[in-house]
Amino acid sequence: MNDIAKTSSGNVVWHQGRVSEDDRRGSLAQNPLTIWLTGLSGSGKSTVAYDLEYELLDRGFKAFVLDGDNVRHGLCGDLGFSADDRAENIRRVAEVARLMNDAGLIVISAFISPYRRDRDGARRVIGEERFVEIYLSTPIEICEQRDPKGLYEKARQGRIPDFTGVSAPYETPTDPSIRLDTSALNRRECMDRLLEELLPHASRK
Ligand code: ADX
Repeated sequence: MNDIAKTSSGNVVWHQGRVSEDDRRGSLAQNPLTIWLTGLSGSGKSTVAYDLEYELLDRGFKAFVLDGDNVRHGLCGDLGFSADDRAENIRRVAEVARLMNDAGLIVISAFISPYRRDRDGARRVIGEERFVEIYLSTPIEICEQRDPKGLYEKARQGRIPDFTGVSAPYETPTDPSIRLDTSALNRRECMDRLLEELLPHASRK
């Protein structure tokens, strides 16, 4: 990333440190990844993300969750749910995930990220080899039955505009690495499926 033209101020130059990506991989004994969870509100993203973080730390990996509801309290607290605001939300998160990956960490991100274009943008920022897309494919009827925050009910009453799945779109991933329907698999089964796929990528050979 030494392309000066990509910065809004022309007078910024990338500074290269002395620690290489490989040094960091060696020091942390892992390959950095961004495990990108996408799916409807109530599909199980946060539960899966925090379970996965726990399982990875338990195996000695250094992992951290970026969760939509939490990030929107701080870094993205100025953003709403229009398509433009969601694009900016995902752009910022992708940049943070990339920095955390550069630091050698494994990132687990839990964002609805309903637009394919935004997810593809995140994949580009983070890098194809680090980005793993996981689609929480839990059907909307189940998400709506669960309605843990009572948001679907409010959205159906027209009290929340642009609510994903009700009055705003969710664009299904076309080729995710893994699909998980949390109404068909229990929490343990979800972890087993994820760990089977991810551990070979995360482990430094
Ligand atoms: S995203 O679309 O920009 O990726 P993000 O994952 O950060 O969304 O935030 C989603 C969370 O915000 C939901 O879990 C829900 O709790 C809350 N929320 C509030 N308003 C909306 C809305 N209009 N659509 C979707 N989620 C909403």
